[in-house]
Amino acid sequence: MSSDDTLKVAVIGGDGTGPEVAAEGIKVLKAVAKLEQIKYELRDFDYGGDRYLRTGEVLPDGAVDELGRFDAILLGAVGHPEVAPGILEKGLLLELRFRLDQYINLRPVKLFPGVKTPLAGKGPDDIDFVVVRENTEDLYAGMGGFLKKHTPDEVATQTAIYTRKGCERCTRWAFEYTRKRNMRKRLTLVAKTNVLTFGHDLWWRTFQDVAREYPDVETDYNHVDACCMWMVKNPEYYDVIVTTNMFGDIITDLAGIIQGGMGVAAGGNINPEPGGTSMFEPMGGSAPKYTGKGVINSIAAISATAMLLEQAGYQNAADRVMKAIQTITGTKMKSQSAGKMGYSTTDVGDLVCEAL
Ligand code: IPM
Ligand code: MN
Repeated sequence: MSSDDTLKVAVIGGDGTGPEVAAEGIKVLKAVAKLEQIKYELRDFDYGGDRYLRTGEVLPDGAVDELGRFDAILLGAVGHPEVAPGILEKGLLLELRFRLDQYINLRPVKLFPGVKTPLAGKGPDDIDFVVVRENTEDLYAGMGGFLKKHTPDEVATQTAIYTRKGCERCTRWAFEYTRKRNMRKRLTLVAKTNVLTFGHDLWWRTFQDVAREYPDVETDYNHVDACCMWMVKNPEYYDVIVTTNMFGDIITDLAGIIQGGMGVAAGGNINPEPGGTSMFEPMGGSAPKYTGKGVINSIAAISATAMLLEQAGYQNAADRVMKAIQTITGTKMKSQSAGKMGYSTTDVGDLVCEAL
């Protein structure tokens, strides 16, 4: 909770449909804040592809420090059809993850009532787990380079880095989270120790060391390839998964589709330290072809807002929003796909507010 009792939220609508869905998240935040008597301050930032094309910079000087003074950030989407791939992702999303030291990427994977999963014979009781992805290291650290670039003898390196500190803080957070999440208390490490015999050996040893402090948590290990099979065949097996940045990126897209797709999947980039600024986002991307049409699903952005409230210490408000979401997916919405919901982007926000 914010030190002076006011929840300070920076809103970066970003590109494409990002601003449309972020607005629905904020609509719900305002509604629940009224019910729960939460004081808040909101501020919009226009960072994203359009601003980059206009000014040539993704984040202006001082932007990260300024954002770091907020309790949380709600991010709509990054990705612009006229900006080369990587520029906004690196310059905005990864820059904020790294500079604000948001070392946890939290992805709840829950099949809401009434939502279709592509997995035959599985329902809301079977698909309810969480992925804790390390968010600052691995192949994402940007270490590497070229030799003899643009020649037939070209060489490229891209180095995965793992630090004891990085593994340990993520693993410890995952153990704490598993302990509190429910009665199952099972934490599965997902890595590739049979091939990545240095980096993932460090992960494995760190996981074993930290596990000794949590005798009440059952530990388990899956190679990442096997995890992909199990997630499809027996998703009910998982409670909490902790994994590396790159593998976490990949398995959370698989997880996202089994929970009903990009219209519902949300994630948090969390700096759990006191005074840390965390950032929450719907997973759907900027969906340029749907921009301005009012057809994109805002459930994911509203879930991201619930995660924001939870991380900021407003558990009741977060629970109310999650309950309201599940009421409308279960009783009103026809589908979670863009254009097929039976409602517009803003209708969905209104319905959640009513259900609150
Ligand atoms: C995600 C996204 C990002 C990532 C991209 C946009 C850089 O795919 O949040 O999973 O790879 O982490
Ligand atoms: Mn991803």
